[in-house]
Amino acid sequence: MMRLPPDVKLGASTAAYQIEGAAREDGRGESIWDRFSGIETGETGEVACDHYHRWRADLGLMAALGLESYRFSIAWPRVQPDGRGAFNAKGIDFYRRLAEGLRERGIDPVATLYHWDLPQPLEDAGGWAERDTAWRFADLATAAYEALGDVIASWITHNEPWGVAFVGHAEGTKAPGLCDWPTALRVAHHLLVSHGLAVRALRASRPDATVGISLNLAPVRPASASAADAAAARRRDGYVNRWFLDPLLRGAYPGDMVALFERRVGLSAPGAADLATIGEPIDFLGINYYHPEYVRAEPKSGPLGLVAAAPAPPTSALGWSIDPAGLRELLGRLVRDYGRRPLWITENGVPDELRQTPLEDTERVSYLSAHLEALGEAVADGADVRRYHVWSLLDNFEWELGYAVRFGLVHVDYATQRRTPKRSALWYRDYIAARKR
Ligand code: FCB
Repeated sequence: MMRLPPDVKLGASTAAYQIEGAAREDGRGESIWDRFSGIETGETGEVACDHYHRWRADLGLMAALGLESYRFSIAWPRVQPDGRGAFNAKGIDFYRRLAEGLRERGIDPVATLYHWDLPQPLEDAGGWAERDTAWRFADLATAAYEALGDVIASWITHNEPWGVAFVGHAEGTKAPGLCDWPTALRVAHHLLVSHGLAVRALRASRPDATVGISLNLAPVRPASASAADAAAARRRDGYVNRWFLDPLLRGAYPGDMVALFERRVGLSAPGAADLATIGEPIDFLGINYYHPEYVRAEPKSGPLGLVAAAPAPPTSALGWSIDPAGLRELLGRLVRDYGRRPLWITENGVPDELRQTPLEDTERVSYLSAHLEALGEAVADGADVRRYHVWSLLDNFEWELGYAVRFGLVHVDYATQRRTPKRSALWYRDYIAARKR
């Protein structure tokens, strides 16, 4: 196996709403996910993995696996219930104890400021479609760094702004569940502005901090060799990848997509001052990689004129292509198109197959080992990879899919909250240990 350099830190990722539970405790306010969840499945994050009460035992699990880095998110409604005004000391204390506990165990804490749980009062005031929400986010960032900057050195502003903007506001399957393209484009822009404001706020209060953003990125493949499908793949790439990468790393939205959105959605181009904010330098680019995308041209389908095409086999339980070479390809492309810069894999993983023996997740062992191998190859090709996080430490609340879909290294029995490491957890533990020798 192609060895990853020993200074690449290996860890796992979670997100507040997916694991914490305690949705009404210690002054936590309501979030858009409290309101939205349950629409599809009847399931919510109200209890989830009860991590809010079991965090100490969960730290024990992480230590037993030998994790070097742990990425979690700070629930905005827990630390600032109304999304503006007073901060909640009990909420902040929770993250302080967690971060201190991680450090005592030699695990580096990485905090994400926004993993999708907007306080409901901000949504009621217009949500991310309102420009003011970007300033509310900058206030959250300032308060979080001031309260926790001494114990957390690594920060991620947003998790997957594409999903927040477009899945949440144009496709409508994630909170807040809107289907309106002009709104989604405004939201995407405000998320990016809020990222830049938060980076500035962080630098002002902790100049030595490490800060980045996590994007969901994927190679996009056309369903056929036709020119129409190739053009569709380019549009999908513009929508998912370049719409975020270009303003963050090149100082401008991609021209082909601006023209398309102007024509089909009525977008007017954002101002240059905002682009300077969005392009505020970051220390690393976070990448969530699961699978490449396949598309086919379909002129009548939405502003992009395309539909999803059948993924190439093999596929996972969610029908996603299993394609470790896609990760190597993606990182090579980032180096080529956006320059060599520190890259953190902030999520990578696969759902369990349904089986009688839930702890025997051999598909996850193969998936992870193949992706780590691909990562080693990407490093050999010249990518500057610094960290890798498995999604996820624990089985958890998989958003609109509820609890049926399990992504954890560690199995959770939701009736008893009992945690049991799956075969993949033990494999990952041994993999991490072997690198240290
Ligand atoms: C990502 C999300 C994460 C989890 C995984 C499976 O898009 O960031 O919270 O749901 O997918």
